[in-house]
Amino acid sequence: MKAVRVTRFGLEHPMELEEVAEPEPGPGEMLVRIAAAGVNPLEVAIRSGNHPRAGAMTLPYTCGTDVAGEVEAVGEGVEAFAPGDRVWGRASTGAYAEKGLLPADSTGRLPDSMSSAEGAALPIPLLTAWNALVVKGEAAPGDCVLVQGGAGGVGYLAIQLARTLGCRVFTTVSSKEKADFCLAGGAEATINYREEDVPERVMELTSGRGVEVVVENIGCDNLSSDLKLNAVNGRIVIVGTGTGKGPEVTIPLPAAMGRDARILALSSGNLNPLVPGILRRLAPLLESGAIKPHIGRELPMEQANESHEVLLSGKFLGKINLAP
Ligand SMILES: NC(=O)c1ccc[n+]([C@@H]2O[C@H](COP(=O)([O-])OP(=O)(O)OC[C@H]3O[C@@H](n4cnc5c(N)ncnc54)[C@H](OP(=O)(O)O)[C@@H]3O)[C@@H](O)[C@H]2O)c1
Repeated sequence: MKAVRVTRFGLEHPMELEEVAEPEPGPGEMLVRIAAAGVNPLEVAIRSGNHPRAGAMTLPYTCGTDVAGEVEAVGEGVEAFAPGDRVWGRASTGAYAEKGLLPADSTGRLPDSMSSAEGAALPIPLLTAWNALVVKGEAAPGDCVLVQGGAGGVGYLAIQLARTLGCRVFTTVSSKEKADFCLAGGAEATINYREEDVPERVMELTSGRGVEVVVENIGCDNLSSDLKLNAVNGRIVIVGTGTGKGPEVTIPLPAAMGRDARILALSSGNLNPLVPGILRRLAPLLESGAIKPHIGRELPMEQANESHEVLLSGKFLGKINLAP
């Protein structure tokens, strides 16, 4: 089967489309024919060699994690799924390929109303949005939520998820096009972070109260100013560092103390034990269409290198996918 392989670390080294052996499902695993793969910043970061997880990868490896497709075969002990089922999940063997292995207990069923392209946009982004809002952020009905970077893969689903939790949702964007996109996705108001004072606007929107939860996708750029817009006892959940500013950040401690701020961070890898339960709670939201990702760009697998360039450019709405 065909797979997109990372043969050297460093974004200057293009990934290569190679012929590799088809994987065989072990106990608890399923072989899935991949119909679409999601492109995430994580795989670009690992491929660059600068992400901590790069150290755990053996070159060459098949790039990617997120897939949707059809079950082709099940391994020993798998009873919940059968060949022909449409599924979404995180492939342990890499996503930019014609086939991959998924662990059955952490795989979701794709509703009939959802395309494979939409399914591939779910795994890392939606599980991360759930982690940020529900597990770490403890978002409750009536809470105000600020999603930093609402037009991206995680942010767009975080807007929708926060709405289903009964929250008021505001989000930051860089353009009118992204603002319109986020408003259509369920945000109550958008703030152009390039042109407006974000804390000032948040305070206006919340009548001086601030937000209970910040989903912070660009932590290095925004954490310091988040401490001017969180409510007393508010939770700032750091999802991403952002690009270009390095991994470190300085914050004003008096502001944090004055608001009893709770600054939390997460890594999607640590969520694994909770995933089966989260999938059960997400299923009705996907069935009903309350959560529906948007595919801004879809490229063939042969253009995997270009998909990483588009991701880094920020010139897309929602999600970028690859189709084998
Ligand atoms: N911790 C984890 O387990 C985990 C899991 C998933 C994702 N992540 C990380 O979370 C981040 C978001 O992931 P993603 O898939 O949503 O990425 P994405 O699709 O690239 O979206 C990022 C969004 O942030 C916006 N943005 C950039 N700079 C901004 C700023 N200063 N203020 C507000 N918005 C800004 C971008 O649009 P504009 O440039 O047009 O503003 C873009 O819409 C990435 O850093 C990713 O690595 C971490």
